[in-house]
Amino acid sequence: LREVAYEKDLKGKKILVTAGPTQEPIDPVRYLTNHSSGKMGYAIAKVCSMRGADVTLVSGKTAIKPPLFVNVVPVTTARDMYEAVTSRFDQQDIVIKAAAVADYRPKTISDQKVKKADGELSIEMERTDDILKYLGEHKREDQFLCGFSMETEHMLENSRKKLEKKNLDMIVANNVKVEGAGFAGDTNIVTLITKDDETQLPLLSKEETAVEIMNKILEITAEKGR
Ligand code: CTP
Ligand code: CA
Repeated sequence: LREVAYEKDLKGKKILVTAGPTQEPIDPVRYLTNHSSGKMGYAIAKVCSMRGADVTLVSGKTAIKPPLFVNVVPVTTARDMYEAVTSRFDQQDIVIKAAAVADYRPKTISDQKVKKADGELSIEMERTDDILKYLGEHKREDQFLCGFSMETEHMLENSRKKLEKKNLDMIVANNVKVEGAGFAGDTNIVTLITKDDETQLPLLSKEETAVEIMNKILEITAEKGR
């Protein structure tokens, strides 16, 4: 019964977590997505809930069961997630964006199934809204914003750029190409990056990684007296 062993040190905190992939429809039978399993975000939501927080989990379509005692808001597209997250942002103390949001979507969605023809097919794509960037532009001094960064090269450098560009308090960086890290498995190897420092965590289960992420966030918010 590990659960009862968690200290309720997040009691009174309102935390919104996003998890999973988004799906961008092409036509009634097809969509574009990514390999996100939702496991990292769900582990964070679970740990936050076990530690006493009031948790909202905005989740793209996943194959896993949401943790108990969290308020689940199911979404499909990047646009849905943008609306679900921005409309709830004001009430949150902490937002953790573990979701893998599409950067592009098909410019038009065909009403009918696209039929094959000879030759090649191109799909015109347009940018989605960057949810995290919007939150960074609108966050209050007393709100904590944590992003995730998925890279295949120059992980620290690129992640630090995202931290600055999106006005985040912390970014959790992982390299999908490292064994034991990334989307599918039950483990992760991440680096917690803040303006002032970098903490490289060892290979841990996603739940243990979630514990370390929340410890770090509590440490920083306590220092700031939030
Ligand atoms: N993110 C978001 N909205 C988007 C795209 C990304 O909120 N439209 C968030 C993700 O949830 C994640 C963070 O931004 O917390 C970084 O996502 P990532 O894909 O690693 O970085 P991008 O800024 O999208 O840049 P790129 O994909 O080009 O590396
Ligand atoms: Ca992206």
